[in-house]
Amino acid sequence: MRVLGIETSCDDTGVAVYDSELGLLGHRLFSQSSLHAEYGGVVPELASRDHIRKVLPLMREVLAACAINPQEIHGIAYTAGPGLAGALLVGAVIGQSLAWAWQVPAIGIHHMEGHLLAPMLEPDPPAFPFLALLVSGGHTLIADIQAHGRYRVLGDSADDAVGEAFDKTAKLLGLGYPGGPAIARAAAHGAPGRFRFPRPMTDRPGLNFSFSGLKTAAVLAVREQALDSQVIADIALAFQDAAVDTLVIKCGRALAATGHRRLIVAGGVGANQLLRERLADLATSLRVQVYFPRPDFCTDNGAMIALAGYMRLAAGLCDGPDFSVHPRWSMDDLPPAV
Ligand code: KG4
Ligand code: ZN
Repeated sequence: MRVLGIETSCDDTGVAVYDSELGLLGHRLFSQSSLHAEYGGVVPELASRDHIRKVLPLMREVLAACAINPQEIHGIAYTAGPGLAGALLVGAVIGQSLAWAWQVPAIGIHHMEGHLLAPMLEPDPPAFPFLALLVSGGHTLIADIQAHGRYRVLGDSADDAVGEAFDKTAKLLGLGYPGGPAIARAAAHGAPGRFRFPRPMTDRPGLNFSFSGLKTAAVLAVREQALDSQVIADIALAFQDAAVDTLVIKCGRALAATGHRRLIVAGGVGANQLLRERLADLATSLRVQVYFPRPDFCTDNGAMIALAGYMRLAAGLCDGPDFSVHPRWSMDDLPPAV
């Protein structure tokens, strides 16, 4: 089965074709980050309009690059939530319209399920069950994954998502948007030990997170200093250390509590090199296996949606023309796929 995947939940337009026998055939991504950069964050209406312009040209490019025509597509998957309502509607309406025109089934995919399955696009994919750390601009989740579609959220953020904290701290430091890669680049020149920020909620039991205090610690540090490029790098380093440490401590705790032998890491913050190294060390010390998508598939992309779509369509699920999108959508509410 060959599935076309469409991702439009935020500021990246992603399109991909996944083949159940051959794996990923091709993918294209258009990042709107330069469109939103001058506003310091995503402007929803600009995002929707740009998705309208990009989805079909990207789809034609992918089909041409894989040398397949629409008759060779057997199903369509689009991100149905969570995300920006208008942006989601663009992908859903285009996906459903193509499915109607091509007479194939369509399915709306939970964006975080897409992230969660992204490590399965890599060689040596993880088998179920596993523990998942899902870290993006909108989510910070630790989830117990028993099987495809059987998810239990064990820990969540009470306030900002970790990616959002990276973005806000980068904005504060004048490092631009998106903040995660900018903080990581600046931190490479930072001097360790000049600042030390809290590891929020690691001093009490449980798997929940809170990142707004960490952001406030960065605000206070900025207020007390004359900002030059060295101070910016030092604050970026301290922030990245604290955020990564917090995630690693909670993952260690969750692995001990659940007894899982496999950990998967996904979502945009999963592209962070320090986080990848620290989690690889944790996994070695606990003798568990850790799985990451390649950095390009940590951030938003169409490939993860095509794969997640294939898995749900193959299980006999689909969404008819009475479809809807879900800007807010808990993973706990997903219909099981097995
Ligand atoms: O998964 P994603 O592309 O979109 C959402 O679903 O939110 O994640 C985007 C988030 C942004 O907050 C961005 O700053 C963060 O991932 N991010 C990073 C890195 N690359 C992207 N955070 C830390 N280090 C990175 N290298
Ligand atoms: Zn995402």
